[in-house]
Amino acid sequence: MPYTVRNLTDFSTEALDSAVSELLSGLEQESAAVGSENDWKAFRDRWIARKNGIFTQLNELWLKAAPGPNKRDVGRRVNELKPQIEQAVNATYARLVSGALFKGRSVGRARVPDSAQDSPVPHRDESERLDITLPGIRRPIGAEHPVIKTMNEMIGVFRNLGYSVEEGPEIETDFYNFEALNFPPNHPARDTQDTLFIAGQESRPMRDRLLLRTHTSPVQIRTMQKIKPPVRVVCPGKVHRNDALDATHSPIFHQIEGLAVDTNITFCDLKGTLDHAMKAMFGSSVKTRFYPSFFPFTEPSADVQISCIFCDGKGARDGAPCRNCKASGWIELLGCGMVDPNVYGFVDYDPAKVSGFAFGMGVERIAILKYGVDDIQLFFQGDVRFLEQFL
Ligand code: DAH
Repeated sequence: MPYTVRNLTDFSTEALDSAVSELLSGLEQESAAVGSENDWKAFRDRWIARKNGIFTQLNELWLKAAPGPNKRDVGRRVNELKPQIEQAVNATYARLVSGALFKGRSVGRARVPDSAQDSPVPHRDESERLDITLPGIRRPIGAEHPVIKTMNEMIGVFRNLGYSVEEGPEIETDFYNFEALNFPPNHPARDTQDTLFIAGQESRPMRDRLLLRTHTSPVQIRTMQKIKPPVRVVCPGKVHRNDALDATHSPIFHQIEGLAVDTNITFCDLKGTLDHAMKAMFGSSVKTRFYPSFFPFTEPSADVQISCIFCDGKGARDGAPCRNCKASGWIELLGCGMVDPNVYGFVDYDPAKVSGFAFGMGVERIAILKYGVDDIQLFFQGDVRFLEQFL
């Protein structure tokens, strides 16, 4: 029989003593019968639920019923019972947990704590039994995405050379993305072919029209407007182009821009810096080659190639032409050059006093080479089987 609170009529010391000990032995028996988490919840609610729990009933059936002279004694006893009941509820839970851990008799799924087995009250439902010996649920914490990892590695190389990091907005104005970088008004790069423009900007002057930046080079301009030379920064970020996607193209990708402006910076500094960076990224045996090129914001401009890391620059591997470098022994990796003096005009630098170099590289392209990935789309599809290879 489960314990029920007795209606008290006799409030003598003996009668109270016996009512209290009856309650405590009921408490003990019911505690011993708890064998699962659900049992325990029922036990807890039965004894300490605010609404109609056994302790609450004590106030009604004992304390309120007590005649004036006995109220004090009854009140003291009820007050003493409160922590005892709470303590029993807590101890039962602790016993349940440690019992399942240490006292279980079998190693299977339905491990039975000793005390629960011996208890006279049957379990309501075996399947409700708490089994904390089951393996826990693994929550993977994730890892750096290979693109971010590559980006951070490259940033680290330049941090070690004393560069700091600057960032700019992904939604840019035509001014920062093109005009201040010396793109003439009718330059094909401004065409909607390559650039994603924000709609409904036609009423604005050309230079204020918003677009998704097509490269990180606008951060060069923002940086030079903000700080005076000497400047040494790298600018990582996301860029957008109106390109159809395939194995080597994605409408969203990442770049790292570099800019160094000071007095007497020469093309030799540019070559030495990038040669060092490529060796740091791909290994000290990698060679670099600077190939004439054109960018509106640098003069002279160059494309940088590294010796092919797949065939060691030989152009052939295992007796067959190397596919990675199209048998040339070289792989094109980034654009660079000496900052065009026209650009200084847009940021209030004196081209007679300062000189500098800039470079820009695609992060996915570097990651593809470094990790031997054959399709740029893999970086954006979020397939865990691909991503977990970079843990
Ligand atoms: N912004 C160029 C692009 O996206 C890359 C580039 C070339 C950046 C030369 C530079 C540079 O800073 O000097 O194609």
